[in-house]
Amino acid sequence: MDNSLAYAQQLDRDDQLREFRQQFIIPEENGVEQIYFLGNSLGLQPRRTAGYIDQVLKQWARYGVESFFLGDDPWMHYHDHLVAPLANIVGAKPAEIVVMNQLTVNLHLMMVSFYHPAGKRRKIICEAKAFPSDQYMFETHLKHLGLDPAVVLIEIAPREGEHTIRLDDILHTIAATGEELALVLWGGLNYYTGQVFDMAAITHAAHKAGAKCGFDLAHAAGNVALHLHNWNVDFACWCSYKYLNAGPGAIGAAYIHERYHTDPGIQRLAGWWGYEKETRFAMQKGFRPIASAEGWQLSTPSPILYAAHRASLEIFAAAGFDRLREKGRLLSAYMLYLLDEINARASSPILEIITPRIDHERGCQVSMLMHQKGREVFDALGKAGIFADWREPNVIRVAAVPLYNRFEEVWRFADSVRRIIFAV
Ligand SMILES: Cc1ncc(COP(=O)(O)O)c(C=O)c1O
Repeated sequence: MDNSLAYAQQLDRDDQLREFRQQFIIPEENGVEQIYFLGNSLGLQPRRTAGYIDQVLKQWARYGVESFFLGDDPWMHYHDHLVAPLANIVGAKPAEIVVMNQLTVNLHLMMVSFYHPAGKRRKIICEAKAFPSDQYMFETHLKHLGLDPAVVLIEIAPREGEHTIRLDDILHTIAATGEELALVLWGGLNYYTGQVFDMAAITHAAHKAGAKCGFDLAHAAGNVALHLHNWNVDFACWCSYKYLNAGPGAIGAAYIHERYHTDPGIQRLAGWWGYEKETRFAMQKGFRPIASAEGWQLSTPSPILYAAHRASLEIFAAAGFDRLREKGRLLSAYMLYLLDEINARASSPILEIITPRIDHERGCQVSMLMHQKGREVFDALGKAGIFADWREPNVIRVAAVPLYNRFEEVWRFADSVRRIIFAV
C-alpha cells in the first residue's frame, strides 16, 4: 500500500464491484457527491427502491385487498422473495429466516422463546454497554417477569485500559456461571468499537453450559461473514436499515434454528400471521404455527416495507456476498493504513484506533478514539462533505461500505483528517 491519491484511484480501477455504486443515490450538496461513511447507521437508497414500492402501490390501487392474491406479485407470497437472499447473507437455511417487525421488538419476542428462568438457572450473559435499546429491552423484560435485572444480568466489559472484550473473558464467565446460566445474548459486532465476536465459540460455550445462545446482529448483517446455522446459534435478530439498505424504519428479521420450528414445548407470543398458511383463513380457535421461522410472525406485514427490502437484497445477490466481504475488508484495512500514517507523523498520540486490527475481528466500521482535536476534526469532516458520526465522549465512527464507497473516498477522508490535525 502507499498513501498517494493515485494508488487509491488504482484500487478503484481494479475493483470488480465498482459499478454497483451506480445503483445507489449518493447524497449531493450543490451538485457535488458527498462522502457517505454512515452505512453502519442508515444505508443509502438503492435507485430501484422507488420502483419496487411503486409496484406495490399500483397493485393496491388496482386490486385493493385482492392484491394479497392477485397482480404480478401477490402479497401473500412476497415474503418468499426475501428469505433466500437473507439466508445466504446470514448463513442460514431459508426456513430459518423470518422478516418481521423491528429489531428491539424481535429481541423481546426471542426472549419469550429462549429465556426460561427455572430453579437456579436464571442468569443472562451480555456485553457491558450494549446498545441502549438492548439494555432497555433486558431491563424491562426482566422486570416484566418479576426479576431483578441487577441480579440476573452478568455484563462483561473490556479489561481496565482496554477497549475490546477478550474472548477468553467471555468463555471463562460462561463456564464459571455454569448451571446458573440460562442465556447468552450478545451483539455480533459491537456498535461502538466495531469488534466482531467469535460467535461460534460463544455459542459452543453457552451450549456446553446448558444455556441458549442468541445474537443481536444489527451491525453484523450484510457486513461480515455469518454462518448462523453451522455455528448452531439458537436465534438471532437484526435490523435492515444499516448495511442492508432497506430504508429508514425498515422491516427487521430474525433467524431461528430449525430444531425449534416444530418443538411443541417452545413458548411464543402469537398472532394470526404466524398461523399455518393453509388454514389461516378458516379462523379457527387454537394457535397452530407455521412449521418454520415464519411461525413467529404476529401481524399482517407491510408489502411496502418488503418491497424496499427486496430492492436491496437483489443488489446483494448480484454482487455476491463473498466479494462484498472481501472489498469491505480491503476498504477498512486501507483506512487503518492511512490513519496509522497520520499517527506516525504526530509527535504525541492524536488518534487511537479502537477497532480490532485482525481481519476477521472487524467489519467495515473503523472507530477512532480522539486524543486531541476530536470535535474539531469531526466538525471539519462535516464541512468537507464527509458523513461520519460522533459517539460520546470522543469517538468518531466511519464505515466505508463495499456496495457504494470507493477507495478514493477513504483517501479523501484520511487526507481531510491529516489536514485538520496538522493544520496544513
Ligand atoms: C446493536 C443495536 N441493537 C438495537 C438497535 C435498535 O434497533 P431498532 O430501533 O431497529 O429496534 C440498534 C440500532 O441502531 C443497534 O445498533
